[in-house]
Formats: sequence, structure tokens, C-alpha cells
Amino acid sequence: MSCNQSYFPKSRPRRLRANPVLRSMVRENHLRVEDLIYPMFVADGQGVRNPVSSMPEVFQLSIDELLKELEEVVELGIPCIDLFGVPEKKDTTGQLAVEDGGLIQQAIQAIKKRFPQLLVMTDICLCEWLEHGHCGLTGGPDGHEIDNDRTLPVLAQMALSHARAGADIVSPSDMMDGRVAAIRSILDDNGFGNIPIMAYSAKFASSFYGPFRDAAQGTPQFGDRTTYQMDPANGREAVREALLDISEAADFVMVKPALPYLDIIWRVRSESPVPVVAYNVSGEYAMAWAAHNNGWLDLEKVMMEMLLGIKRAGADLILTYFAKRVARLLRNQR
Ligand code: PBG
Repeated sequence: MSCNQSYFPKSRPRRLRANPVLRSMVRENHLRVEDLIYPMFVADGQGVRNPVSSMPEVFQLSIDELLKELEEVVELGIPCIDLFGVPEKKDTTGQLAVEDGGLIQQAIQAIKKRFPQLLVMTDICLCEWLEHGHCGLTGGPDGHEIDNDRTLPVLAQMALSHARAGADIVSPSDMMDGRVAAIRSILDDNGFGNIPIMAYSAKFASSFYGPFRDAAQGTPQFGDRTTYQMDPANGREAVREALLDISEAADFVMVKPALPYLDIIWRVRSESPVPVVAYNVSGEYAMAWAAHNNGWLDLEKVMMEMLLGIKRAGADLILTYFAKRVARLLRNQR
């Protein structure tokens, strides 16, 4: 069948692609700097700027170095960062994560003092703080079971101590059941009723987290995360997780990773009354860089296409290690 024998014989989609002005008028989705959240890794010590080998342009930064890095982040107009801890010491109770003078708590205070307008979100999870690298406390006969309910008060205390230090948003990534409710009630009871919770609602047990585990040094020392993170085969269950978190008063729901789960973003978006966030994870970042370094793909074009695809799938906001590059590119396009 030739093109003018179609059902709508006069219809020609190419008419609206004829020039850049027309194309930009009919463009359906946009990536804006306001859509970006920049994940960063805070390390103990002074003058620390350790490159993460599997993640070009990403560093573990001590607080002094982080503040330097933030000059550019703020100048580029990136509205929000997400802090992960890379502490020297770990234990088996998670106490190091909840202490008022702890690493993340100090970082929040220093950042808010210097850049009051920058939103500081913090990761609420125990994997970076526990010797065994799991996201929750362990127990059971062999000590290898994740104890959901004993973990909840520790996560809640962690969120409270971040709020006390000045965090603007808390973001539980542990995947324990009931943690959004536990965090909401401790925040409300302590006068932090206005601090939003960004819940990692549909977080899949993914192999795309490998480079992050180098960056945050949180690889599980035994077993894997399949008893708490989701099965990559499940879509309906992702909607269930999101609705459950919303019923516990989550202010944002997140889907993670992003690229292999665009259908999940779409499904959660269609069911969710709250903003949907996607995490463009470390493995997605590393893949684009690796292909670029081999001369196989154009890094920035691929980056923009990936992120626009995530928005088109329905994400309101995107966590991405590309945030600075995107912000620079968007600025230069203006
Ligand atoms: C830990 C956590 C992980 C990521 C964010 N928070 C790793 C994991 O669950 O193993 C992954 C982020 C990324 O890969 O960029 N709770």
C-alpha cells in the first residue's frame, strides 16, 4: 500500500516536522533543569575526592570537597541533591546512621548553612552503615534473615536525625514494609510534619546497581537483596507497592531503575495521585559512558534521549548522575 492509500488519505505527519521552529512547537515532552535530582556520596575525612572507577565524573567527597562541588551544582540551577553516606566505620546496629553529630547530619548542616536555597534530600537506608551491607538489621536462626520490624524504628530515627539537622526531604530506599508510616509518624510527632517523604516504592532487585555499590561500598556480604527488593518480572506488584506507600502518606513515589522499567513508570504514573520519580541508576550511567569511551555512542545525545524517554514514560522528576552535564547542556541550548 502506498502512503496516500491510507485510511486518512490526506494525513501527513511529516508536515509538522518540516523545520526546527515547527518541531519545537509540537514537542510533547521536555527535560528541564528543575526535573533533576543529583545523587552525591559523602565520605569521612578532609580533602577527600576519590573517583569512582565505574562511574566517570562521580566522586566520593568529604564535606569540605562537597561544598566546593556544590558551587557549580547551585550555579547550574540544579534544585535538589540526594546524599548517600560512605562512612569509615560500620557496625551491626545502625547506630552510626542515627547519631546527631554523624557524617550525613554534619554534611546537611554544612550545606544548608552555605546554600540555604538548595534542597537537601537524604537517603534513608542502613546498607551503607551496617557491616554486612544489607538494607535492614539481621536476625533469625543463622543471623542471615532481614528483620523487617526491628529495622523500622532505626530507619525512623535516622530520618528524624536528618530532619533535625535540616534535611528538606527524606528518601527511604530500604524496601522494608511499613517504613513510610514509621517515618511519617516520628516526623509528625517531633514537629517535622512539613518534611516530605520520597519513597523508593518500586525498587527492583537489579543488576544495574553494581557501580553504585562500588561508590557507596554497600555490597551485601552474604546473600542478595531478593527478599526485600522487587522481582524484575513483576509489574502489578509495583503498582501495589506505590499505592501502599501513598496510603502511608508518601509525598513522592519512585521507580528504580528507570530504563528497563519504563512500563512501570507509565503504570505507576497512571495510578498515582502524587509525583512520580525515576532513578536513572549507576549501571545505566556506566553503560552510556562505557559505550562512549569505546567510541560506539555519542554520550550527550544518548544521555538526553534516555532522560527524555524517562520523562515521556511519565516521570515528573529524575535522579541522575548526569545532572550537571544535562544542566550545562540545557543552559547552552538557550
Ligand atoms: C541502597 C541503594 C542502592 C542504590 C540506591 N540506594 C543500591 C542497592 O540497593 O543495592 C542504587 C543506586 C544506583 O545504582 O545508582 N539502599
